[in-house]
Amino acid sequence: MSTHTFVLNGEQVTVDVDDDVRLLWVLRDVLGVTGPKYGCGINVCKACTSHVNGKAFNPCSVRVGDVRPDDEITTIEGLPDTVGADLHPMQEAWLAHDVAQCGYCQPGQIMAAVAKVRQARAQGREIADADLDEIRNICRCGTYHRIREAIKEGAAHM
Ligand code: FES
Ligand code: FES
Repeated sequence: MSTHTFVLNGEQVTVDVDDDVRLLWVLRDVLGVTGPKYGCGINVCKACTSHVNGKAFNPCSVRVGDVRPDDEITTIEGLPDTVGADLHPMQEAWLAHDVAQCGYCQPGQIMAAVAKVRQARAQGREIADADLDEIRNICRCGTYHRIREAIKEGAAHM
């Protein structure tokens, strides 16, 4: 066991687990933050998509030993606080378009969407269909059309 410190949803946390434990298990099983879902555990399904320092990443594929003390991890639970509201505009758009079916993939979809919009803005442009094509989050319920519509509306309010 060894101690690991990082920032989770705006608060510093410290856990005592082996270096090799993947961050998704630390979030879910040690810290009780269950928004990031377990789908595959091998960086394929993207159900666990969260943010590290504002960018999308998949905590199922990151060793907790590789997380730095100043890394800021944001999960869906902490997304509204990044805009100081009860819900992030992307979450509002998700509700407006009634996107979710079973819901399992949806936290990851929203986190991927927000990161994609930020990435486009960092390049000085708005999100385009080609950006949406790059999102690889799997939805076994096939809500892809509603996801794309919601991302465009959410982006317009970010
Ligand atoms: S659980 Fe992380 S990518 Fe599938
Ligand atoms: S809403 Fe069921 S997996 Fe996407």
